[in-house]
Amino acid sequence: MKVLLTGGAGYIGSHACLELLKAQHEVCIVDNLSNSTIEPINRIQEFIKSKIFFTKCDISDFNSLNSVFESFSPDSVIHFAGLKSVSESVKEPIKYYENNVLGTLNLLKVMDKNDCKKIIFSSSATVYGNPLYLPIDEDHELKPLNPYGNSKLMIENILRDWATDQKYACALRYFNPIGADSSGIIGENPHGIPSNLVPYILNVINEEYEKLYIFGNDYDTRDGSGERDYIHVTDLVLAHMAALEASSNLAQFHVFNVGTGKGTTVFEIIDSFKSFVSKDINYELSSRRPGDVASSVACVKKINDQLSWNSKFNIECAIKSLLNWKFKNKKRFV
Ligand code: NAD
Ligand code: WQD
Repeated sequence: MKVLLTGGAGYIGSHACLELLKAQHEVCIVDNLSNSTIEPINRIQEFIKSKIFFTKCDISDFNSLNSVFESFSPDSVIHFAGLKSVSESVKEPIKYYENNVLGTLNLLKVMDKNDCKKIIFSSSATVYGNPLYLPIDEDHELKPLNPYGNSKLMIENILRDWATDQKYACALRYFNPIGADSSGIIGENPHGIPSNLVPYILNVINEEYEKLYIFGNDYDTRDGSGERDYIHVTDLVLAHMAALEASSNLAQFHVFNVGTGKGTTVFEIIDSFKSFVSKDINYELSSRRPGDVASSVACVKKINDQLSWNSKFNIECAIKSLLNWKFKNKKRFV
């Protein structure tokens, strides 16, 4: 199958590129490199000895995007491209609606013009807002608390209307992706200071940051710290492959949670890291981060049943894979 990845140079997109090539698909990437570099693409090509068609392009640029579609003629699109910082979206909402929503509308126009009828979309558990019950299933109310989450929900609704009887759209609501491919050739390398817990801890271990600040230890969880559903990025990508397989015999719009169904607290994540590194992880208790919820854990029954997909890797495996990548590429981070 010929698959076009928007945002394919990014953390999750590059892992998807690797798995698709392993499965003998043809891959084309469009990415404006606003939060990535070309390096993961070069490393994957070198590692797997397969050609990746890459164009530096913004998904809002109709003419450039259309010429990529005309030359590659993709059978389907996996739509990773998007801005993803909750805090930045609160400061710059219009930037997020323009980039994420208008960019997606442009992508769909180009897909229609080129008769491309299948899309898998990177949605987020952020669309749920405050959990009313746990684990969170797909019928939970959708009440995003920030412009980023709103942009994801808007796109889901657009896709629902776009996916008529001859088209297929699948929104995957990611919980908390972590980890890296076992090869160590690619990982998570965000521009600037990471706001997410796991990449931040990695930089504390790497001595780029002095200490981790734990945002609250008075939540109603096992140990008072925030609980999340951390999913290995490779498991997450395999869920996309399952959705791609299903697209051949499904029409219209589908939405699935993608998580492990298990919660892990901040202190438990720290303990997992400590089991691999022979040094203490310096941290300081701090006040709660505005907008954070105590616990967010996915109900994954729907994707288990309908796509026969389940997560395979545990937290320890994800953390070990991330450490493997970081220390294999240590020179790049000094
Ligand atoms: P990322 O920032 O590493 O990757 C996104 C890629 O999209 C980057 O390479 C960036 O350069 C590109 N991009 C952004 N805007 C673009 C545009 N207008 N045109 C072309 N390229 C553009 O992020 P990621 O962690 O790989 O996330 C991928 C997708 O998954 C995003 O849509 C994100 O919102 C979603 N998601 C991520 C998480 C997470 O925790 N990582 C959780 C839920 C959902
Ligand atoms: C996890 C836990 C924090 C950093 C975010 C986005 C979400 C999605 C995934 C895009 C929480 C605690 C964190 C730190 C800490 N991204 N923490 N110190 O907030 O669950 O989800 O990323 O779609 O939209 O909101 O992930 O990694 O930021 O936080 O104590 O320096 O770690 O309070 O309990 P989050 P996170």
